[in-house]
Amino acid sequence: MALVTMGPMLKRAQAARYGIAAFNMIDYNSARAIVEGAAELKAPMIVQVSVKTIKHWGYKTIGTWVRMLAEDVDVPVALHLDHCSDKEVIRRCIDAGWTSVMFDGSALPFAENKAKSEEIYAMTEAAGVGLEAEIGAIGGVEDDKFVAEDAAILANYDECIAFVKDMPNLAVFAPAIGTAHGFYKGQPKIAYDLLEKITATIPIPIALHGGTGLSQEQFDRCIAGGCAKVNISTMHKNRFIEGFLAVRAEKPKLAEPLPFIEGQYAAMKQDVLDMIRAFGSEGKAAHAAGREA
Ligand code: 13P
Repeated sequence: MALVTMGPMLKRAQAARYGIAAFNMIDYNSARAIVEGAAELKAPMIVQVSVKTIKHWGYKTIGTWVRMLAEDVDVPVALHLDHCSDKEVIRRCIDAGWTSVMFDGSALPFAENKAKSEEIYAMTEAAGVGLEAEIGAIGGVEDDKFVAEDAAILANYDECIAFVKDMPNLAVFAPAIGTAHGFYKGQPKIAYDLLEKITATIPIPIALHGGTGLSQEQFDRCIAGGCAKVNISTMHKNRFIEGFLAVRAEKPKLAEPLPFIEGQYAAMKQDVLDMIRAFGSEGKAAHAAGREA
């Protein structure tokens, strides 16, 4: 299929209470594992890309890889830009074929975040591209952004209402609800009550950041509470490295590179399959694409 925008499929996922996985791709092998894993389980998928990864490979290269991979499968795939505070990068992604983008103004004072998010919203609406916007501060490390544990702040409910008021067609909303990027050191304190209150009053699907390391029960409660997009980056990066190294450990004298790439692919794809099952999106491709009730 051609790449799709994520808004309509996230709305369907939220209504039916399943989560669509959003994996942060690293290279072509990683994008292949993500898209082909989704195809194997007939699941919708979001391939998201960090700014650093885009700067490493180039806009056109990534856009072409993901578009070609998506065209070879019969499940809906969106190409999304993860956490970005730079309007120029957003513009270039849109021009290179991204179907959705995230503007992350969460480090700014509320009024400024709202104003800048609305400016990007006007741009994405004009381009027919979906937008994700964040408030509060999600802890941990993502790309070049670091939020210390004690600096992470839950989104304020009244600010959530005011934030989305003038962006009715926002594809997905990312209020900080207590999850964090990276491996968890202790148990995350997820504000389920806040999540449920937001979902009850704001008709926009919610993004769950910091998916790596959450338990099945935590995924279930977040998805039941309205999270429709579930982000996984750290575990995917870990599989990328460990999958490669496992081949070296098993066959120390191997001089052929392709078995390394195959081992890495298998490790990454296994995690993609596990997460799709954990989020309840196996077999939901046709539903997410609007081809089935
Ligand atoms: P993890 O790195 O914790 O999986 O979080 C990913 C994420 O939320 C990307 O924005």
